[in-house]
Amino acid sequence: MEKMLGKSALISGGARGIGGTAARLLVEAGAKVVIGDVLEDVGRKHAADLGPTASFVHLDVTSEASWQKAVAHAVAHGGGLNVLVNNAGIFRRGGIADTTPEQYMQMVNVNQLGVFLGMRAALPAMRGKGGAIVNISSTSGMVGSSNSCAYSATKFAVRGMTKSAALEFGPLGVRVNSVHPGNVDTDMSRAGLTPEIVQSMASRIPLRRQGQPGEVAELILWLASDASSFCTGSEFVVDGGLIAG
Ligand SMILES: NC(=O)c1ccc[n+]([C@@H]2O[C@H](COP(=O)([O-])OP(=O)(O)OC[C@H]3O[C@@H](n4cnc5c(N)ncnc54)[C@H](O)[C@@H]3O)[C@@H](O)[C@H]2O)c1
Repeated sequence: MEKMLGKSALISGGARGIGGTAARLLVEAGAKVVIGDVLEDVGRKHAADLGPTASFVHLDVTSEASWQKAVAHAVAHGGGLNVLVNNAGIFRRGGIADTTPEQYMQMVNVNQLGVFLGMRAALPAMRGKGGAIVNISSTSGMVGSSNSCAYSATKFAVRGMTKSAALEFGPLGVRVNSVHPGNVDTDMSRAGLTPEIVQSMASRIPLRRQGQPGEVAELILWLASDASSFCTGSEFVVDGGLIAG
């Protein structure tokens, strides 16, 4: 199955977790993939393990200059740019009373501004070529969360800007969709929690388990590929039924 043959992709936060698995699936599907991340060593090793069709570039999604370098790297590596996966993100638990304005803005800068800057930097290379942008939001961008207001606000923003971008970029031949994972087994979801708490959270999901990164990455691959050629401006939930009720 080489449905991404001849395509060039840039994945932010592709060093590990959901983005790292998406990088692997895209490479296996025949794409040339650039992993952009602030995690230098992990990202370089992951790209090397994926082989010569993968490459690493340092990318801090909060910086417009860093995005320009990453897009130029992806265009040089892949002979153009067809796919952008805006996956980099950070998460911090905390209610409104426990979150400082600085902590709030840090989350906005990475999760929200980072996605905007990514789309802004990639468009000149993608316009007119039938490309796809996949923005990783969350179920926290679909329903409220009681203990992560700042994160939820940024993920609602990603969902909204995806629809605006779809309207703007559709006539230029670029599709834009958002992906909304629930509780997925990665460093992010495990941080600061005991295995018992992780298990207890998983037991409240209708499918009675956390998702695996590959179960989200398969959806990213589908949205990045021509198999989803009539989908744009849409939101795709992958959560084991978490928000079905
Ligand atoms: N794991 C979950 O349960 C879950 C649920 C819903 C949504 N998500 C979203 O999925 C995406 C991937 O998360 P994950 O679970 O794989 O987490 P992760 O922490 O394993 O991976 C996130 C990646 O983003 C990178 N990153 C962070 N700040 C960056 C920056 N400024 N510039 C570039 N890269 C940066 C990290 O270095 C890391 O490689 C995130 O957007 C996250 O919000 C995750």
